Amino acid sequence: MIQARGLARTFPTKHGEVAAVRGVDLDVAPGEIVGFLGPNGAGKTTTLRMLTTLLAPTAGTATVAGHDLRADPAGVRRRIGYVAQTGGTDPATPVGEELELQARLYGVPGRAERIAKLCARLELDGLAARPSAALSGGQRRRLDIALGLVHRPPLVFLDEPTTGLDPQSRGNLWEHIRRLRDEDGTTVFLTTHYLDEADALCDRLLIIDRGRIVAEGTPDELKRRVSGDVVTLELGAGAERARAALEAHPAVREATADGGTVRLTVDNGDRELMGLVRALDAAGVELTSLRLARPTLDDVFLTVTGRSLREAA
Ligand SMILES: Nc1ncnc2c1ncn2[C@@H]1O[C@H](COP(=O)(O)OP(=O)(O)OP(=O)(O)O)[C@@H](O)[C@H]1O
Ligand SMILES: [Mg+2]
Repeated sequence: MIQARGLARTFPTKHGEVAAVRGVDLDVAPGEIVGFLGPNGAGKTTTLRMLTTLLAPTAGTATVAGHDLRADPAGVRRRIGYVAQTGGTDPATPVGEELELQARLYGVPGRAERIAKLCARLELDGLAARPSAALSGGQRRRLDIALGLVHRPPLVFLDEPTTGLDPQSRGNLWEHIRRLRDEDGTTVFLTTHYLDEADALCDRLLIIDRGRIVAEGTPDELKRRVSGDVVTLELGAGAERARAALEAHPAVREATADGGTVRLTVDNGDRELMGLVRALDAAGVELTSLRLARPTLDDVFLTVTGRSLREAA
């Protein structure tokens, strides 16, 4: 659905050039929710604006929704929806008019029906007469998304769809985004700097930092790339014997004992857990409790960039 090679953009400023995006390659398959994750200023919005034809790349090529970005920008625009980071509604215009105008602009057949369906889908029913200035943050964000979907694009770009929403509205919007994929087969490309959002919502992630993609994969794959899972065992006695027995296990990278606690770094912890318990059994050590902890996406970010996403943002 998206293939980009070497996309780059520099901006001239008073103090010289800013290289906002420095050669991004990316592939997005139909029906995926792909998250573009990175701290403030990483180049997320700039990349999105290039992929949506709003900004000309200084270098690179891309095919978006089957059309070449440079040769056929109008073809790209017809087939995509774009929801900007700042939204795009006029505060004074009533919700219904805003949707009607958008549908006319795109020449959507069966306008009234399409708008009614979108309003039901995005919980905007009963708000048609209200100006968007009088909507809650969550309602306004859902209106932004409805506007981006009016012409049934197979690919939508959402720039920070949930920034500024309370936890309940965020969860609610995630549900709407999942339904776009599950019920309509829509491909979704979204940016976020929320790790929990990336983890809960996205099939695949691209991590961008300082204009370059520094890691990509499913949330699980990315987490696995970080120093393995941590297994913590509590033992009544024999911690040292347990440590020695477990250290010999092929999946264990590192084992330390401290009092009655043994801490292991393990590849594929969930799959290896039974084997570890058996090894303990064979060594005649009795187990009191066992805990498995996965690394977080913040650990991933720290590993690939050397700093924490939270600090960076
Ligand atoms: N029109 C512009 N002129 C000059 N510099 C720009 C312009 N637009 C973006 N930049 C710079 O390019 C870099 C990337 O900006 P971009 O908006 O793509 O980041 P972002 O990842 O979307 O960040 P955020 O999370 O804050 O939205 C930043 O250093 C920004 O200051
Ligand atoms: Mg941005």
